[in-house]
Amino acid sequence: MLQCNYGMAAISGGTQPGLSKGMTLTKSNLQIDSARLWNAIHETAKFGGTPKGGVRRLTLGAEDKQVRDWFRDACEAAGCTVSVDALGTMFAVRPGHDMSKPPIGIGSHLDTQPTGGKFDGVLGTLAALEVIRSMNDAGIETEAPVCICNWTNEEGSRFAPAMMASAAYAGEYTTDDILSRKDNDGITVAEALDTISYRGIEPVGTRKFAAFVELHIEQGPLLEAEEKTIGVVDLGQGIVWYNGTISGFASHAGTTPMPLRRDALATFAEVVLAVEKIAKDHGPNAVGTIGEVAIDNPSRNVIAGDLKFSAEFRSPESATMDKLDSALQSAVKDISTRRKVNIAIDQIWRKEPTVFNTEIVKAVEGATKQLGYSYRRITSGAGHDACNLAGVMPAAMIFVPCKDGISHNELEDATQADCTAGANVLLHTTLALAGVVSAPKANT
Ligand code: GLV
Ligand code: MN
Ligand code: MN
Repeated sequence: MLQCNYGMAAISGGTQPGLSKGMTLTKSNLQIDSARLWNAIHETAKFGGTPKGGVRRLTLGAEDKQVRDWFRDACEAAGCTVSVDALGTMFAVRPGHDMSKPPIGIGSHLDTQPTGGKFDGVLGTLAALEVIRSMNDAGIETEAPVCICNWTNEEGSRFAPAMMASAAYAGEYTTDDILSRKDNDGITVAEALDTISYRGIEPVGTRKFAAFVELHIEQGPLLEAEEKTIGVVDLGQGIVWYNGTISGFASHAGTTPMPLRRDALATFAEVVLAVEKIAKDHGPNAVGTIGEVAIDNPSRNVIAGDLKFSAEFRSPESATMDKLDSALQSAVKDISTRRKVNIAIDQIWRKEPTVFNTEIVKAVEGATKQLGYSYRRITSGAGHDACNLAGVMPAAMIFVPCKDGISHNELEDATQADCTAGANVLLHTTLALAGVVSAPKANT
């Protein structure tokens, strides 16, 4: 029997986190089941699977219910107790030796973009399940409990903002505010939760964790380019989102002379190029995107009168986010004045850059070294639930490479070996943070 205590106290006390203190849980005797993880990823990809090999599983839709039901059954079969909070976030707890200790949270999300891939969010959630399954196989009892989380609406493509359930958990929004958010069809989060029977009774934010660790594909090109297996994430970019409307004047495409037009779409073209230029001017630590536009009552022989669009900027520096914002406001004012077209731009969300907890980052780095994987420290370009949770608990992330850095696309891909490596780092980080009381089979 192994005796070891890798609780938060040891880590906070400055001890280098790792798996060496009198225990022999090593790469060779304790790894996750790679085939089982890979099968789980591909089995769940059928819920919302697209002909191009991607996944369309919008949050709180019918396919999200299917994957949630699958996930609940799998967690219960692995001996976990599953609870659901008032925003539909699922918590699956594997008991620890000392149930008075707050659990170590691990997981991610199971919703996808409209044309998403098989790995974004799914890897982190199903790797967390695999961690529990592997602990069960090895007969490991941890000191603290371990809790898998499936956060509702990480993607933000059906309801804004992204990562809304973890933000509410962290106290950035009230539950009622989030429940009242509407999708483009006017359906509220509350109605969508009730439709799939995932509005739970646990009050949001009441479940406490000792720490949270999220495994995710990088969604960018750095790890692959540098041939590194693991990204130890120590920083997350800030994000600012806008809703915009342009009000021009709809009129006949054949009879309205060019100088008399107040064309919303031509105006929008200038706004798109302004967002691109502003981001480039503030680079390399800035990106800007317009991902959505909808013309009201479009017709090929009508000059566009009114349209709505979304815009976003991201940067790892708060001061740069301020500069991007003021550059956008002045560009919009200038375009609007020149074209005599009204442009309204409302900032609907601002998420400051995230600095992940040094001790948890070190725990991830320690497990990565212990396992012998190549790695680098990395900044997350994408938003993640761990970024919200980092505001209220020690948190960190583990990245693995994805093919050509592509994500939010049906072509998104990652290798089994890299997913396995990431899950192994998650396993050993979890053990380091939760503390191991006994592991009879792992040491044989
Ligand atoms: C979440 O998927 C994001 O937009 O970063
Ligand atoms: Mn994600
Ligand atoms: Mn995503």
